[in-house]
Amino acid sequence: MDLDLKNKSVLITGGGSNIGRAIVLAFASEGANITIGDIDTNQAQKTADLALKLGAGSAIVQRTDVTQYDQTKALVKTAIEKHERLDILVNNVGWDQMMFFTQTEPSFWQKVIQINYLSVLNCTHAALEFMIKNNSGAIVSISSDASRQGEPREAVYGGCKAAVNSFTKTIAKENGRYGIRCNVVCPGITIPTSNEEIGSTSLWADPGSMFSSEQFDKIAKTLPLRKVGRAQDIANAVVFLASNKAAGHITGQILSVSGGYSMIG
Ligand SMILES: NC(=O)c1ccc[n+]([C@@H]2O[C@H](COP(=O)([O-])OP(=O)(O)OC[C@H]3O[C@@H](n4cnc5c(N)ncnc54)[C@H](O)[C@@H]3O)[C@@H](O)[C@H]2O)c1
Repeated sequence: MDLDLKNKSVLITGGGSNIGRAIVLAFASEGANITIGDIDTNQAQKTADLALKLGAGSAIVQRTDVTQYDQTKALVKTAIEKHERLDILVNNVGWDQMMFFTQTEPSFWQKVIQINYLSVLNCTHAALEFMIKNNSGAIVSISSDASRQGEPREAVYGGCKAAVNSFTKTIAKENGRYGIRCNVVCPGITIPTSNEEIGSTSLWADPGSMFSSEQFDKIAKTLPLRKVGRAQDIANAVVFLASNKAAGHITGQILSVSGGYSMIG
C-alpha cells in the first residue's frame, strides 16, 4: 500500500541507533524528507547517508539533546526551514539502565525522567506550535510495554513511559480539532541485528548489562510469537500510524508491538 509519505517532512529523535534508525530508513523508503535530532551525530549521519540511498528526498542531522527545550525548538526550526514544513514528529529517544528501584538514587531518577518523559514534552510542544498553525500533523511516540505491565528493574522508566501514554491521549484530545493525530507504539524487547545498527550511546552498546544471551532465548520462548522483536517491526507500526492515508481516523491509541507480550483489551 502506498502510505502517501513521499516528500512529507519527518522529524525523528534518536534516529541514529536501533529502533530510531529503522524508523528513519522506513520513512526514507517511502521518499520522505528527514530530519534527525540525536546526541550521537556520527551514528546519525551514517543513518542519514543510508536514508538518501534508500530514497529519502533529503536527510539532515542536527546535534540535539532532547532534554533541553531550547535545543528541541531549534531542531524543529531547522526541519521547517530545510523542508518548508513539519508533517510528522517521532519521539523516539529513550534510555534506561536495568536496576531494582531500591538500587537506584534520585540522580538516576532525574536522568530517566528527563530522557524518557521531559524529552517528549519538549519536542511535542515545539512541534505543536507549527502543526496547529498548519492545521495538520501526526505525532508518534515510542513508549514501551514496560508502561503497560510492571516490569522488574524498570520502575522509573516504566512510570515515565506510562506518562508518555497518558500525555499522548490528552494531546490527541486537545489537538484533534486541528487535524493533528497523536499515537504511541510500545515495543517489547527489540534487539539490533548487528553492531552496525547501534551507536556508542545506545543502550545496546553493552547488551550484557541488561540480559545474557541465554536470557534473550528464554524471553523469546515466553512470548506468544516465540521471537524477540527487531527494529523493523517497530518501524512498520510507526510509518502506518504516521500515515494519514493508512491511519487517518486513528488517534490517542497505544499499540503494542511485542510479539504478544502485552494484550490490553
Ligand atoms: N530496544 C528495546 O528493547 C526497547 C523496548 C521498549 C522500548 N524501547 C524504546 O524504544 C526507543 C528506542 O530504543 P532503542 O533500543 O533504539 O535505543 P538506542 O539506545 O539504541 O538508541 C537511542 C538513540 O537516542 C539517542 N539519544 C539518547 N539520549 C539522547 C538525548 N538526550 N538527546 C538526543 N538523542 C539521544 C542515542 O544517541 C541513540 O541514537 C526508546 O524510547 C526506548 O525506550 C526500546
